[in-house]
Amino acid sequence: MNNIHLLIVVCQLAFEFSLVNAQGCSQTGWFGHKCQYQCHCENDKCNSSTGQCTENTKCVKGWFGLACQYQDLTSVPSATITSYPLQTSNTWITDGDDSTCNQDNSLNSVVVAWNITYPFSWLRLTVKDNEYPGNFKVSFREGVNDSKYIKFQNHRIFVINANTVDISCQMTVDVMKIIISGHSVTSLCSVYISGGRNAAVKQTAVQSSTYTDKRGIQAKASNAVDGDTSSFFKKKTCTHTNIVDSSPKWNVTFNQAHAINRIVLYNRFDSQDQCCPKRLVNFSLQTFNSSYISNFSFQDSGKDPMLIYTVIVPVSQRNLPINVIGIRAYSRERILSLCEVQAFEGKTKS
Ligand SMILES: *[C@@H]1O[C@H](CO)[C@@H](O)[C@H](O)[C@H]1NC(C)=O
Ligand SMILES: *[C@@H]1O[C@H](CO)[C@@H](O)[C@H](O)[C@H]1NC(C)=O
Ligand SMILES: *[C@@H]1O[C@H](CO)[C@@H](O)[C@H](O)[C@H]1NC(C)=O
Ligand SMILES: *[C@@H]1O[C@H](CO)[C@@H](O)[C@H](O)[C@H]1NC(C)=O
Ligand SMILES: *[C@@H]1O[C@H](CO)[C@@H](O)[C@H](O)[C@H]1NC(C)=O
Ligand SMILES: *[C@@H]1O[C@H](CO)[C@@H](O)[C@H](O)[C@H]1NC(C)=O
Ligand SMILES: *[C@@H]1O[C@H](CO)[C@@H](O)[C@H](O)[C@H]1NC(C)=O
Repeated sequence: MNNIHLLIVVCQLAFEFSLVNAQGCSQTGWFGHKCQYQCHCENDKCNSSTGQCTENTKCVKGWFGLACQYQDLTSVPSATITSYPLQTSNTWITDGDDSTCNQDNSLNSVVVAWNITYPFSWLRLTVKDNEYPGNFKVSFREGVNDSKYIKFQNHRIFVINANTVDISCQMTVDVMKIIISGHSVTSLCSVYISGGRNAAVKQTAVQSSTYTDKRGIQAKASNAVDGDTSSFFKKKTCTHTNIVDSSPKWNVTFNQAHAINRIVLYNRFDSQDQCCPKRLVNFSLQTFNSSYISNFSFQDSGKDPMLIYTVIVPVSQRNLPINVIGIRAYSRERILSLCEVQAFEGKTKS
């Protein structure tokens, strides 16, 4: 099958994470009884137990869905969103505001494209009030060439409410372009594409050694799973192994196994100090299961340092349980510094 022609089925959604908690979290920016979930509502306005946005706030840009826990791939830096016939401004699609909608009755398609391929699991479309999200067609491309259709299996459609529909499917390959068309596009208000949930935040991180600065502040291993992606070492949210460490390493252990499909590393990128971005170049990354058997490893090509590294777990390894992610640095300085490590689990809905 090359296209989804929307067929409405009303389903009860079974989420794998429950928001029913007796007590809340008293730490700003977190929620859940162990403060284990990060708040992604504007101004940290989350209900401390459910994570739902309060005081009329919405999810911050880049996050959506239940308790704003799903990364939105329409907001990653390389995403381009084009609407046809060509609209000069189409920020209504990705502003996270379901009350700003298309105004052009001739709109026939919305295209989301990236410069690398991403794992796809599900997307969410919202339409104007009093319109039914009943006639969408979604198709996927493997590359920039439009003739490279992707075949997919088991697509499912979930009507969330009167103006929201989720479409989930199992893909055999990763996706570089998604084309949304059909009659309902003229009523479209928002497009969200799930990049999954970050399983690494607040998990147990360790490193081979820890650097302590002149004031005695330690650049702890947990700084790479603190939910803060800031690349400035002085903000005290990056890790740093000691100056003398012959084999600098860092790893995170999850409290349960996850099917991770994408790992994102935020490098240190201080604007004035050119010392540091190159320390992460040529790193290696490995994933392990609970018996510490590795099934996936990645070696950076060792060219120019990047602010953000995206490592995609190949489709063939994607359903294997991952309990540990380990990173090693091989730069001449033998220092490993990470500002954040995110590990996305992208299940299809069932
Ligand atoms: C959080 O949400 C729950 C469930 O809806 C509600 O019972 C509780 O009062 C809310 N807490 C706050 C602080 O608003
Ligand atoms: C993709 O786009 C990002 C953000 O614009 C850029 O930093 C990166 O270098 C690009 N990657 C490739 C492979 O072109
Ligand atoms: C796209 O793919 C088709 C069929 O595989 C091929 O004929 C065509 O030359 C390709 N176009 C480009 C721009 O690569
Ligand atoms: C994780 O790091 C700790 C401390 O360096 C080390 O003892 C352990 O073997 C590492 N585990 C894996 C799987 O790399
Ligand atoms: C990259 O790291 C590998 C070890 O994984 C090492 O053998 C190689 O020399 C390094 N390359 C560069 C350019 O530093
Ligand atoms: C870990 O992976 C190895 C190799 O694939 C496998 O034999 C072993 O059963 C796995 N352990 C667990 C706990 O899944
Ligand atoms: C990883 O798992 C795949 C699929 O189970 C298997 O084919 C492959 O041999 C494994 N690789 C390693 C290095 O264990």
